[in-house]
Amino acid sequence: MPTKVLVAFYSSYGHVHRMALAVAEGAQGVRDVEVRLRRIPELEEARRAMSAQEWYVKAQEAMADIPEATQDDLRWADGIAWGIPTRFGNMPAQVKQFLDQLGGMWQKGELEDKATGIFTSTATIHGGQETTIITSLIPLLHLGMIFVGTPYGQNPEIMVTDGVGGSPYGPGTLAGGDGSRQPVETELTTARNLGSRLAKASAALRPLRASDPHGQQPDAPQYHEGSA
Ligand SMILES: Cc1cc2nc3c(=O)[nH]c(=O)nc-3n(C[C@H](O)[C@H](O)[C@H](O)COP(=O)(O)O)c2cc1C
Repeated sequence: MPTKVLVAFYSSYGHVHRMALAVAEGAQGVRDVEVRLRRIPELEEARRAMSAQEWYVKAQEAMADIPEATQDDLRWADGIAWGIPTRFGNMPAQVKQFLDQLGGMWQKGELEDKATGIFTSTATIHGGQETTIITSLIPLLHLGMIFVGTPYGQNPEIMVTDGVGGSPYGPGTLAGGDGSRQPVETELTTARNLGSRLAKASAALRPLRASDPHGQQPDAPQYHEGSA
């Protein structure tokens, strides 16, 4: 059975989409790995607010063929890479909304001991490259996932003092204040490295999960009734 890697991303203007393709490429390069690329659904309020922006419309058209991520995609995966552009140093509402529907999966421990990693995009170098990944990690830790970063030793391209995205916490790109900057090769390299490291970690963790199916505890804590 191949190791299954899900690359789930949200992108308004295409930068995280481009990085997601590189993460998927890196995962696909590992032997016996199957990759799914999925979009985290747009929120209707956001679509309405941005639909007059030409770059938004073009970027959404370019990713229209990519299926939307579902909870079944999360179940299917042995490992999940999340593409999360920054909003004020934190995750966008689209990603929060998607994660906030996972109460039922959390209760059953369905994501426990799956490998996970995060890649990001910010307008500027100090706009949240690290904080977006660190703050997005918190719910993933609640869900029991095991974090895979992009350490300096394996990613010498992030050992820089100039304006390039990426950190030991995960790959990143810089969109620029007007969104005109596109991911550069060093950023795409780190993204591919995350994909390949995540695929290997996902394969290595499979025996752990097989010995403890879904990690479900008999006295699993409950959110109040009606939790998704
Ligand atoms: C509401 C909002 C808040 C943002 N906050 C930040 C921020 O705090 N720091 C930053 O560098 N960029 C910020 N940005 C810019 C986005 O991060 C940027 O558009 C995004 O990384 C581009 O990725 P995408 O093309 O995949 O959507 C913000 C954008 C929006 C719409």
